[in-house]
Amino acid sequence: MENKIGIPTHIAIIMDGNGRWAKAHGKERYEGHIEGVVSVKEAIRSAVRRGVRYLTLYAFSTENWGRPIEEVDALMELFCRSVTNETDELVAEGVRVRMIGRRDRFSERVREHLLSIEERTAAGEKLTLLLAFDYSSREEITRAAKCIAERVAAGEIAASEVSEQMVAESLYTAGVPDPDLVIRTSGECRLSNFLLWQASYAEFYFPEVMWPDFRADEFDHALEVYASRNRRFGLVAKE
Ligand code: IPE
Ligand code: IPE
Ligand code: MG
Repeated sequence: MENKIGIPTHIAIIMDGNGRWAKAHGKERYEGHIEGVVSVKEAIRSAVRRGVRYLTLYAFSTENWGRPIEEVDALMELFCRSVTNETDELVAEGVRVRMIGRRDRFSERVREHLLSIEERTAAGEKLTLLLAFDYSSREEITRAAKCIAERVAAGEIAASEVSEQMVAESLYTAGVPDPDLVIRTSGECRLSNFLLWQASYAEFYFPEVMWPDFRADEFDHALEVYASRNRRFGLVAKE
């Protein structure tokens, strides 16, 4: 299905600032994460409404395991609760959920919820929601390199045949078009190990608002910012 002119096919969001939002409101960090889930729901609804086909949300990085255990536990619990509460609506909205990231370090309970949301939403055709959970772009690229090296070692392909397409197809995001727009909230201007390969020609937008304050109006504004950009892909701009 073709996208509407000026609407990004794929938006990727680094949802940052939950902790600072909580602090500014005299609350605990986990309360910022809870409020952040409301923004997640609004972003998904907005993406469906505006005809965005892929939405990637950075929910938990491989580095985030290093946070205090209470916060990690609260985030895992919030994930499970959100899966339980929101799956029906995602199915009704035509959203398909796919997790990107490592899968081997979660508890049994988290793994069950993860499989459950992927299976139950598998028929969704309007929007593919990629949830980056225990995700690291360097880990993803290293894993792809290993997988290709194994194919070469097995004599399946020659080293000279390794192509960009082969690398792209060995990433967690295989089959998904590259993000057109990468948004990071909270005013931080860095990627923090997110989609390093895929974001090669993405437009970047760094709104100052904390993630819990990034609601439907902010999402629409991001679309306006994107529509005003002139993408050249290394070529000469059209007159
Ligand atoms: C983003 O908010 C959510 C996750 C990383 C899970 P933070 O928790 O990083 O919030 P700040 O950056 O400390 O404000
Ligand atoms: C990036 O945010 C990861 C997620 C939003 C899930 P962090 O808050 O972990 O990144 P840094 O520490 O500011 O780079
Ligand atoms: Mg942060």
